[in-house]
This record gives sequence, C-alpha cells and structure tokens, in this order.
Amino acid sequence: MLNCTMDETEKIKVTLTKTVTYLRNAWGKINPEVALICGSGWGEISEIFPNSLSINYSEIPGFSSTTVEGHEGILSLCEINQKQILLFQGRRHLYEGEGWDPIRFPVLLANELGIQNLLLTNAAGGINPNFQVGDLMIVEDHINFMDSNPLIGASLNPKIPRFPDQTEVYDNTLRQRLQEIAKKNDLPFVKGIYLGLSGPAFETPAEINAFRVLGADAVGMSTIPEAMIGNGLGMKVLAVSCISNLAAGISEEKLSHQDVKQAAQIALPKMKAFFSAFLRDLLA
Ligand code: HPA
Repeated sequence: MLNCTMDETEKIKVTLTKTVTYLRNAWGKINPEVALICGSGWGEISEIFPNSLSINYSEIPGFSSTTVEGHEGILSLCEINQKQILLFQGRRHLYEGEGWDPIRFPVLLANELGIQNLLLTNAAGGINPNFQVGDLMIVEDHINFMDSNPLIGASLNPKIPRFPDQTEVYDNTLRQRLQEIAKKNDLPFVKGIYLGLSGPAFETPAEINAFRVLGADAVGMSTIPEAMIGNGLGMKVLAVSCISNLAAGISEEKLSHQDVKQAAQIALPKMKAFFSAFLRDLLA
C-alpha cells in the first residue's frame, strides 16, 4: 500500500490521536524533546537511560510489531538532565512488505508529540575503502534507491509541502554539534553518504562497485524514509550508521544478518558513549 488517499490521511490523524491518548494515560505528562529510532543492534543503547518507562509496540494502538531479529519492538520514555527522550527500540522496513505506513508512523507520532529533534540510527555496509567494521558514520546526505518514496500520495500532514526541499535533510547544526562533542570526548567517527535500498537481499559486488562510483560511502535498507518525513515536517534530523560489515565484494566474506548483529554488539560501547555524550550536551 504505497499510496495514501484522503481517507487514509484522516485515518492516520485519528490513529495518532488514539496513540497519544494511550501514551499520556500510561505515562502521564509527556513532553519529549528528542525521538531516537534504533536500527539493527542499536536497541541496547537504552542502557544509557537508567529510569525509563517502557511499553511493547504490540500493546500500543497504531503500532505494529517488528518482524526482524535485532529489532526489539519496545517504546520507552527516557530521561537525561530531566528532559524526556522517546526511544523506539526497533524499526520497520520496506522489505517487511507492509508498505510505508508502519515506517512513517513513529515519525508522525514524534511530530504529534511536538518533538523537534529526530535521531536515526542504523547498521550499514561500508563501501568507502577507508571504513572499518565498527566505525560510526555521521550521515551527511543520502541517495534514495529504495525504488519508491514515502511521501507519495495525499499529504500525511499539512506541515509537509507537496514538494519538500531536500538540500539539507540531515541538519547541519546537529551534525556539527555531534562532531564537536565526539572530538571533545575522544570518540572517533567517520562521515559519509548513505545509499538506501529496499532489501531484503544484500547487494551484489557489481552493485556495490556502481554505488561507489555514484558517491556512496555506506549502504543500508532503512533510515531514508524516516529522514525524508522528518525533514518534510520541519524536524531537525540526524542519522548515524554503525558500519557492521564491509559491503559485498569489498571484503571476500559472505554477508549475513547474524554478522551484522554481532558487529553491532561489539560496537555497542562506542555507540552508547557517542549518544550519551551527545544527548547530555543537546539536552543540557
Ligand atoms: N547492505 C545493506 N544493508 C545492510 C548492510 C549491507 O551490507 N549491512 C547492514 N545493513
């Protein structure tokens, strides 16, 4: 279901109202300033927030359960410096076959709650030959090769223009700030262009060669739709990839989701340090 008719737009609004009411009933006063959507293997950064309140996606109206291992399906209300963060442990993907709705919903919900800062994380295959497994890449821009566009159809929200500008999808101020904080804390990072595909098959070496020529530094199956919707809504978007493997043909090894998860697990302390330092500064 890639299109969104007027009726569906109305349905989204009704569902969002139900979801917000449910969350306010469950958690009381909610006023989060940041939404953080965790990609493969990133869920455990929840450990940087000791006093969180959590609900399974399956219990929340409007949410659908995740179907991929490494995506927990838990929504948490977290705190740093007495400011709230909405943490999505687990995301949906186009390859799961349910269209854009489940992918768009968390971003629309974050917007409905008045959240301005949208932080996205993912696991990605490294194309840039200077990248190593375990590197954290700050996404500077993206190439959408997902074969479709999450903004097709009737407006998801009146704030989203029909033809959104995309010259700075990933907010420059947030990116600079993250770099400064990382440097100050001696946390290494790389920067680059993320190319997104629908998946679920990993790429062929010939495809990766082609993407390298096109200027991609890393490849993955997520993040772009959420970033496009957040940008359309006027949110400040920031994305970080964990390079969980070298892309097909860059190394001789065959690719598996198991290895992606394992690499993310090894990089976890770095991922936690990165976001802990950044959020403490952002929400000071
Ligand atoms: N390709 C696509 N998606 C991915 C990869 C990859 O190599 N690694 C993690 N997600």
